[in-house]
Amino acid sequence: MNQPQAMPAAARRILLGVSGGIAAYKTAELVRLFKKAGAEVRVVMTPDASRFVTPLTLGTLSENEVFIEIFPENESGSWTKHVALGLWADLFIVAPATAQTVSKLANGACDSMLTAVALTARCPLLVCPAMDHDMYIHAATKQNLETLKSRGVHVMDAEHGSLASGLIGQGRLPAPASIFERALAMLAERASERPGPWKGKKVLVTAGPTREAIDPVRYVSNHSTGTMGYEIARSAARRGADVVLVSGPTALQTPEHVRRVDVVSTKNMYDAVMQHRDADIVIMVAAVADFTPASPTTSKIKKTDASLELRLEPTIDILASFGAQKGENQLLVGFALETDNGLENAQSKLKRKHLDWIVLNNPNEAGAGFGTGTNRVTLIGKDGTTVDLPKMSKDEVSEAILEHLELP
Ligand code: CTP
Repeated sequence: MNQPQAMPAAARRILLGVSGGIAAYKTAELVRLFKKAGAEVRVVMTPDASRFVTPLTLGTLSENEVFIEIFPENESGSWTKHVALGLWADLFIVAPATAQTVSKLANGACDSMLTAVALTARCPLLVCPAMDHDMYIHAATKQNLETLKSRGVHVMDAEHGSLASGLIGQGRLPAPASIFERALAMLAERASERPGPWKGKKVLVTAGPTREAIDPVRYVSNHSTGTMGYEIARSAARRGADVVLVSGPTALQTPEHVRRVDVVSTKNMYDAVMQHRDADIVIMVAAVADFTPASPTTSKIKKTDASLELRLEPTIDILASFGAQKGENQLLVGFALETDNGLENAQSKLKRKHLDWIVLNNPNEAGAGFGTGTNRVTLIGKDGTTVDLPKMSKDEVSEAILEHLELP
């Protein structure tokens, strides 16, 4: 294969589970093929696999941290990664799958990150067994593979050839290019099913900061990068929704299958949002500027202009305006950025703005808020439900939030 085929846009998250056989070294090439084709790749390994290929190799090639144990070394860290990874993936490939791992998968064991993820993953599973010939043809292994197939797991037959034991027989891991091709076919199938649970729904997301002009060159704004909102938009598109993203100024790329509307000021954002007031689900993530200069000037203010006093007035609250006129079948979600009395303030915003859900986060908490790749949020529903999510990457947080939203 000279030119790696492209991934389908709607399904390109590959989770690779590597178990401990000599063929594990071939997964470095497999990861490389996926990355070259534009996939996002994450790797989990069994503890034994790391004796055949290092987590450093697969971590470097995949550009992501590699997970082995369910419980992090730092015991106070999050131990729910297996759930997040399982939700994240579009396809979970176990290659090589040793006789031991095949047996564990067939029996639902969960003694390592790899086996635990196999129980939480909602995506298709491709198992590529590789082992010595006698292990491969043993009745126990055959039965385990049959059990997996009967559950809808895709199993690639091992290839015939020379084995690490010196014997010749069936048990070799198929070439990375063959696994890659099989995976692409499965992803294409998944993408064509893409419609997903939100097909036919229109989702409106606001993201990023807004800017309020002081004069033609200066403005009032905040530190929002827009990442959380863009991830929410991406997750909604992945569920097959028609997504409109109303975005303040950011340096981010528009996610696939998302219609982006660029705005600058709060007033611009309000106008754009009102153009899409027919959305079924509205998620306002933007860090809207709460104040705007009362009298912006059209000429640049000179520094020689003795003392500058800036009088600010409140901007329109887009979320509250939307909430005041929200239809019965619309689902409205807001974010609350709170440094103090988080729960109390978020609950009061939830009521005041007529929301169905509010997502609380604290910019002062390590790994949460503006400019970090991660976030730690609490979801609060209008019925009083409170869901504390662990600290996760923002794409995982967005997936988890959408999981919790009830469709109208
Ligand atoms: N929001 C909005 N329009 C505004 C201000 C906020 O749509 N003018 C939305 C945000 O997108 C977010 C929610 O309201 O979904 C809460 O924003 P936040 O800044 O936490 O709260 P505020 O309502 O601005 O109140 P305060 O700054 O006093 O906490």
